[in-house]
Parts: sequence; structure tokens; C-alpha cells
Amino acid sequence: MNKKIYITTPIYYVNDVPHIGHAYTTIIADSLARFYRLKGRDTFFLTGTDEHGQKIEQAATARGKSAKEYADEVSAKFKALWDDFDISYDCFIRTTDENHKIGAQKAFETMFKNGDIYKGEYEGHYCVSCETFFTDSQLINNEYCPDCGKITTLVKEESYFFRLSAYQDKLLQWYQEADDCVMPKAKKNEVINFVKQGLRDLSITRASFDWGIKLPPFLGDSKHVLYVWLDALVNYISALGYGTDEKNFSYWPASFHLVGKDILRFHSVYWPAFLMSLNLPLPKHIAAHGWWTRNGEKMSKSKGNVVNPREVAEAYGLENFRYFLLREVPFGQDGDFSQKALIDRINSDLGNELGNLLNRIIGMSGKYSNYELDSSFVLKFYEKDIKAVDAILDNVESYMCELQTNKYLEELWKVLTIANQSIAIYEPWVKIKEGKKEEAGAIVALAANLLAKASILFSPIMPKTAQTIANSLGFKLDTKSYEKLIINKELLDKTVITPTAPLFPRIEKELMNTPEPTTQEKEIKKELISADKFFASKIQVGVIVKAETIEKSDRLLKLLVDIGEEKPRQILSAIRAYYDVESIEGTQVCVVANLKPVKIMGFESYGMVLTAEDKNGIALISPQNAKSPGSTVK
Ligand code: ME8
Ligand code: MG
Repeated sequence: MNKKIYITTPIYYVNDVPHIGHAYTTIIADSLARFYRLKGRDTFFLTGTDEHGQKIEQAATARGKSAKEYADEVSAKFKALWDDFDISYDCFIRTTDENHKIGAQKAFETMFKNGDIYKGEYEGHYCVSCETFFTDSQLINNEYCPDCGKITTLVKEESYFFRLSAYQDKLLQWYQEADDCVMPKAKKNEVINFVKQGLRDLSITRASFDWGIKLPPFLGDSKHVLYVWLDALVNYISALGYGTDEKNFSYWPASFHLVGKDILRFHSVYWPAFLMSLNLPLPKHIAAHGWWTRNGEKMSKSKGNVVNPREVAEAYGLENFRYFLLREVPFGQDGDFSQKALIDRINSDLGNELGNLLNRIIGMSGKYSNYELDSSFVLKFYEKDIKAVDAILDNVESYMCELQTNKYLEELWKVLTIANQSIAIYEPWVKIKEGKKEEAGAIVALAANLLAKASILFSPIMPKTAQTIANSLGFKLDTKSYEKLIINKELLDKTVITPTAPLFPRIEKELMNTPEPTTQEKEIKKELISADKFFASKIQVGVIVKAETIEKSDRLLKLLVDIGEEKPRQILSAIRAYYDVESIEGTQVCVVANLKPVKIMGFESYGMVLTAEDKNGIALISPQNAKSPGSTVK
């Protein structure tokens, strides 16, 4: 059986520029895809961007852009990063793609026709940041999102519902039967417990904004757009042509949906239920990893603690960074990002173990055999070492299939240690002195073969490094070599070794000022002030008791404003073009009361009246309902 492999990452929201959390998921997925391709499996790797919904609409509005314009911009940033990182995706889907829209509508229509969708009214809380509905009892302090801690809004609107409750038992049965459907196990138990508590029907449309996919035309209901999570999850099938051109649909079901633990529930509860309703097979594995943190806090833009993956790759090398991400943290657990840990990995695992091994092989083969590599005598003298390594390699692949990338790399590094040790133990330099040239050559060849085998298997994680090593040792890095050296346990052919520059120069000090904020963050930060600074201005409600024009000024009015002090203050304000003196008297305003007095056109002004200005002119800012003069504004 050589079933096709289908690997996905989440499609990332375009409200945020990519950080190392996104890079982590994508790099695991990329490594897994390269691993299966190496094994000769027909593999399809999907990534992309999630572009609809209220959160994106708000992010765009805040920047004065249309949602589509903004989504285009940020989606392109994700794509450019993955391209620069050599991510081997086969498809980059955008939920604004026409084919995706058709697929999403088809899915809604099918679920509707299968009797799983009905119209009702939704009343409850909504967290825009998580794009998630919550009940009263789920909230923290009656109003805050239990997942991200932000304030939620109360929503009451007409909505279509999906009969999620009808799938509770079928889901529980699936978790029980499909052992590895949710990985790791601890996470699977959390999901099971959640479902056992009971599932409510899920609101799957929104009627209070437009930025989303319209309902399928047959319903004739243009008030609603699809709930962004339904829209997003369907990407995994629309990318294979669901509802349009189904020529790639043979890749379904997904072999691996890789996600962060923040979105496991959507993938392991809602998505399989949708698929059951669509009569489609369920994914083989939904694998949830932990979070990258900074000083123990989840990395996220709103916290301002994100690490920019591009900067890490530029400072330390992309492949070193990939190795670090996959080696440092056991899949499923959280990991704290630090340059120190990264540097340690580079200097010790990569430099001391891997880089030195290659250098020694190059050096010795140059000295003893004019760079010729001959494996003919390896088995004669060192069969037991080869056997020991082949035994490790027989078991190592299962770690990758279970996404235990840290164990996978740890085992491969054992092979490198054996290679380094065999040089130290067998001492080829002694053999040369004793005139045992064959044996000395066999030690070098032993080390080269062990390095070659390890390199083939770590090539999915460090493709370019493995390629450089393969070039140096004179073998081709491809499925054929994999079959020959790993599956058939054969040895390298006679070849010539090519010297190369050291792969991992030692790093002596931290190379980044961490975390170096991205340009966008810098811009936001520049505009930020501390609350102290804001509260340094004393703003009070006042009432205009008298207004006069000033001779020779067609801009200014001289106001007397009562802010609850003994006598009204005299304040000059440039509002003459917009207000006339009689009608303005009695108006409530907001006054900055602790400004140093200034003299304007011969008159003292003791404060400033707050106004708002746009292209249509200036308006005074008043409290929404009357407040007594002197009330604090904050
Ligand atoms: O949730 N550590 O998109 P998103 C590790 N559009 N991984 C992290 C991380 C961190 N600190 N921060 C983010 C969405 N991630 C939806 C998905 S899929 C149908 C729709 C990674 O932009 C991790 O994979 O918020 C997480 O699940 C994902 O980014 C969330 O990305
Ligand atoms: Mg998120």
C-alpha cells in the first residue's frame, strides 16, 4: 500500500504578521512533507491564509484600508516568508480565492440538504480576536474571553445553526476507534472530556457584517455570511478541488492536520462533525503542538513579545533555526525561545558533532587515501558498528511519523556520536603507522557511511546542509539513496570526497537584540505612550457660559467656560467658522485644565477645549449626557 500523503498547516489570519509560532508549525509541516517525499510517497502539502471575518475587517478598518486590500498585503507577506524559507508547499490557498468560495458554499449546501443546518437566533458572547462564541458560564468575570482574555461583545442576531449536538456520540466513537486521530494523547483526552460535557449546536453564519462568504445562492438569503471558522476549515478540502475541479481530491483524507493547541477544538470537534455531515472520510491525524513563549508568556503581537523568524534565520542561519525548533521542544509541549539555547544547539550538536565529523572525514581521507572513499572493507572490520547503527535507524522513522521530531533528531545524533567515537576508539592514525592501510581506510569509510545515513534522514529538517554533506561525500541525496542506504542497509559506492568549508562556524555571542520588533510593531510602539503620560493631562467637563468673537480674527472665539471653579476660565478656541456665539452658549465641552496659560492675539487662554476635526470641519467634544462642571474625563 502506498497511500498518498496530505499535510496541512493552519491557514493563518492576516491580521498579524508572521512570527516564530507560525514558522514553527509551517517548518514542522515542511519537514514532514519532505520526509514522506524522501520515502517516495506522493505528497501534497497545503498552507495559506484565512482572510474573512470580523477580526480582519476591524484590523483593516483600523489601518484605513479595505479588507481585501489589507488581506492582499498581509497574505503576500506570509507567502514571501515561506518562499524565502524554501517551504515546499504544493498549494498556498487564500480564503478569498474564487474556488475556495465555491467549495465553502457547496459544503454549506450539502450540510443543509443533509438536514444538519437550521435557522434560529443566536444570543451570546463573541470574542472577535478568537472568532469564537461563548456562553455566559464560559466567560471570565462575565465578560472576558476564557481563551485570550480580551473583552467579548454581546451578540444577538439571526443565525443558521449546525446540529453539532447530533454528532456528540459519533465523535466519541471516532476518538475511541481511531487511536491516533488526535495527537499527542494528553491532548486527545482533553478533547474527549470537552465533548463528553455536551455539545451545543453551533452558530455558523453571521449577519452583522459583510466581510465573508455569502450563503449558497439557492437559499436566497443575502443577509448572512459564513462564520469564519466554517469558511476556514473547509479550506482543507476546497484546496483539493472540493466543489470545483476534484482532480486532486484523491489526496483526501488528510494524513496530518498540524495545528497549535489554541485551535485544536475547532479541528478535532467541529471539523470532523462537518466532515461526517458531508459524508467524507475523517482526517488520519490532528496533531497539536504547544506554544512558543517568551519568559513563559505566549508569544503574540498584542503582547509585543514576538520574535521575527526572518531575523532569527538571518542572524543564525535558516537551517540551524529549523534544527533548533524541531530539536529543542518535545511536540505538544511549550518552549521558551532564547538565543542562548539556540546558540548552544548550534555550537554543540551542529558544530561539535556534525560539523567536526565531516571535517575529520575530509581531513583523514585526504591524508590517507587522496580523498578516495572506499567502503569495501567496512563490513570486514566494522560490521558490528554498522549493525548497531542500522538497528537505531530501523526504529527512528516512527518518531517522525508520530511527530516526535526531538526524539527523531536525538536518535540520529546518536549515530553521529557513534561515528565520532569510532574514530577515537579505532585510531586510524595508529593503523596507518602499523601499515594497516585497509583498516585505516575502512574507519574513514565507516564514519562516512554513518554520516551519510544520518544525513539522508535529517535532510527533511536541514535540506541544504544535508545536500552539502552529500556533495562532499559524493552521493546523491534522493529516494534511491534512501532506499539503498536506509532500507536495504547498503553502503556508499566508491567515490571521491570533496573538501568543503566548515559548516557551522562557532557562535561566540548573541547575534540579535531580542526581540527586535518588526517594522510594523516599531511604528505602533512609536505612537504608544504609557497611561501615566495620558493621565498627566487633567481633562474636565465644562460648560460654555459666554462666547465672544475677537476683532481681526475670523478663526477664534473667546469663551468663558465653567469647570466647577470659583469663576469661569477664559479659553480661546479656533471654532469661529463652525459655531456662532449665541447658539454655543450652554454647550458642554471637555477642557484640558492643566495647560500652561498662553497669550493669543492679546488675550490669555487658560486651557484648551477639545475638538474633533475631519475634512468637513471641527466639532466640539461633549459628554454624551450632561455632567456637572468639573467632572473628570479619563
Ligand atoms: O488560528 N507558538 O490563525 P492564527 C506556537 N486562522 N505556534 C503558534 C504561536 C505560538 N506562540 N502563535 C501562533 C488561526 N502559532 C486560524 C486558523 S485553520 C482552518 C484556521 C501558530 O493566525 C499555531 O499553529 O491565529 C496556531 O495554531 C496558529 O499559528 C494560529 O494562527
Ligand atoms: Mg490566533
